Amino acid sequence: MIKNKKIILIGATGVLGSHYVKRFMEEKTKLVAVDLPGQKFEFLKKKFKKAKFLECDVKDEKKLKITIKNSIKFLNGIDCLIYNAAATQESFLKNKKKFPKFENYPLDLWNLSLDVNLTGAFLSARETNNELKKSKGSIIFVSSIYGLISPDHKIYKSQRFKSIPAYSASKAGIIGLAKWLASWNAGKVRVNVVSPGGVFNKHNKNFLKSYSSKTLTGRMAKREEIFGIFRYLISDSASYVTGQNFIIDGGYTSL
Ligand SMILES: NC(=O)c1ccc[n+]([C@@H]2O[C@H](COP(=O)([O-])OP(=O)(O)OC[C@H]3O[C@@H](n4cnc5c(N)ncnc54)[C@H](O)[C@@H]3O)[C@@H](O)[C@H]2O)c1
Repeated sequence: MIKNKKIILIGATGVLGSHYVKRFMEEKTKLVAVDLPGQKFEFLKKKFKKAKFLECDVKDEKKLKITIKNSIKFLNGIDCLIYNAAATQESFLKNKKKFPKFENYPLDLWNLSLDVNLTGAFLSARETNNELKKSKGSIIFVSSIYGLISPDHKIYKSQRFKSIPAYSASKAGIIGLAKWLASWNAGKVRVNVVSPGGVFNKHNKNFLKSYSSKTLTGRMAKREEIFGIFRYLISDSASYVTGQNFIIDGGYTSL
């Protein structure tokens, strides 16, 4: 039961985040949704009037601090921080960024992924931790199976988007941060990670076939199949669960 839980969701308007917003509204939680400005942001803001939508670039430390302060004020506390924002591999395609070979991979692209995927998680946790101690709340960081295992570069060969080194490094880093913080917060704030496998989002037939063959379920995930673990981790049923990484990948990493 997560009704009335006070949640800050950072990275709320993307493929998965927008679905989580819809589900959190259906579950009647109190939600602050944080993301970059844009069309999708405006669309969701109009659609889900009971949620508070705040624009923020997580690379901007000052703005992030103010955003979190305002979120906590709006919610009158916080029960859960979900850090879901990421510079994903697919988003690089959308931004017409290139996918240079590792041997030419530019430092600015490397830093961009680390800033959004890892440093943003650190800053968001740092700014919410004292309030979360008061509510005995929890933090959920979103990683990826690529924080645990290497992508098989072969399946990206014929694709317009590639798997990039900083994505894997930052997603591995967030698991380390979660474990460190779970121990720091022992008995006060629970800290866990959700690591999804590939979620279907109009991928082409070739990619779908080769990716799916690597899972036990024989397919990519549907976005509806990731939400349940968040509901569980936020709920009081998970009161004994901390320092863990929940892998929702159709068995990809068990092979
Ligand atoms: N979709 C998948 O197959 C998949 C698989 C494994 C892990 N994940 C993880 O799940 C999460 C959501 O993925 P998604 O597929 O919805 O990706 P997405 O790119 O659609 O969503 C990422 C969100 O982060 C936001 N973001 C990016 N840079 C930001 C910044 N500087 N400041 C604030 N917000 C920023 C984006 O605007 C977007 O809303 C990510 O952490 C991703 O790594 C996704």
